Amino acid sequence: MTDLDALVPNLPVFEPGTVWLVGAGPGDPGLFTLAGLQAMRQADVIVHDALVGDGVMALAPPGTERDYAGKRGGRPSHSQADITERLIAHARAGKRVLRLKGGDPFVFGRGGEETLALAAAGIRFHIVPGITSGLAGLAAASIPATTRGTNHAVILMTGHPAAGAEGPAASHADWPAFAATGAPLILYMAMTHLDAIARRLLEGGMAPDTEVAVVTDATTPRQRVLVARLDTCAAEVAAAAMKAPAIVAIGSIVGLRAALAPFAIGPDAVEPGSGA
Ligand SMILES: C[S@@+](CC[C@H](N)C(=O)[O-])C[C@H]1O[C@@H](n2cnc3c(N)ncnc32)[C@H](O)[C@@H]1O
Repeated sequence: MTDLDALVPNLPVFEPGTVWLVGAGPGDPGLFTLAGLQAMRQADVIVHDALVGDGVMALAPPGTERDYAGKRGGRPSHSQADITERLIAHARAGKRVLRLKGGDPFVFGRGGEETLALAAAGIRFHIVPGITSGLAGLAAASIPATTRGTNHAVILMTGHPAAGAEGPAASHADWPAFAATGAPLILYMAMTHLDAIARRLLEGGMAPDTEVAVVTDATTPRQRVLVARLDTCAAEVAAAAMKAPAIVAIGSIVGLRAALAPFAIGPDAVEPGSGA
């Protein structure tokens, strides 16, 4: 028994011919779970996404087969159908298949689709959750997701129109209805349509001076944070040349950062107007 076995005694046996969907967390290898690491050490093949941090991949034993299934990084894009077929093929070949996904597999990670496909193919699976970037991104930017007296709810949502959605960009969600809840919005995949999303929220009655935080590459050495008003955030993000992956937080919780960030230990911030 290794030290790691003792630390994660309740992990099921990783059987050949099964698929484990494992959350890699937001990027920092220190935020990868012990259960994920233990599974990684037993896997025959790791089918990994683009957003899995290099530091997490570096934890894989050197001899483990790697099968890149990402959708960015200049490499050919893989369709979701292609990825699920590969998972099924690896499992049917009798391998222990580790499907490694950024953040948490079941939060905007297509883990639902993949497990449904595995179930339909009669392949057994196990889920190892990960820390989702929406929450890790807030923490890394000194923004508490909930604070008594500030908010009693947060809404995690995507800013990316679902494939096949009808209508103009960002019309996949009822933004005015979300604005009306008063709950902070934590947006994944919102960079492409940030301008349209901000406009829809303003049309829905959200105040122009509502604070917005944009956290790119959260928890990595490349992390950047920008705080802006809702009515100017898209222009400021463009001026600062900030790029995905990013978490966009909108609402009252962002204001807490001003008091906390000066005392927080972590990567530097990018403040509005710095142009950095
Ligand atoms: C397809 S979703 C996957 C989300 C993932 N399953 C999770 O739980 O974090 C990809 C989006 O997650 C967000 N994301 C993932 N890693 C991030 C990071 N390190 N910093 C900021 N945003 C991140 C970005 O919004 C990115 O476009």
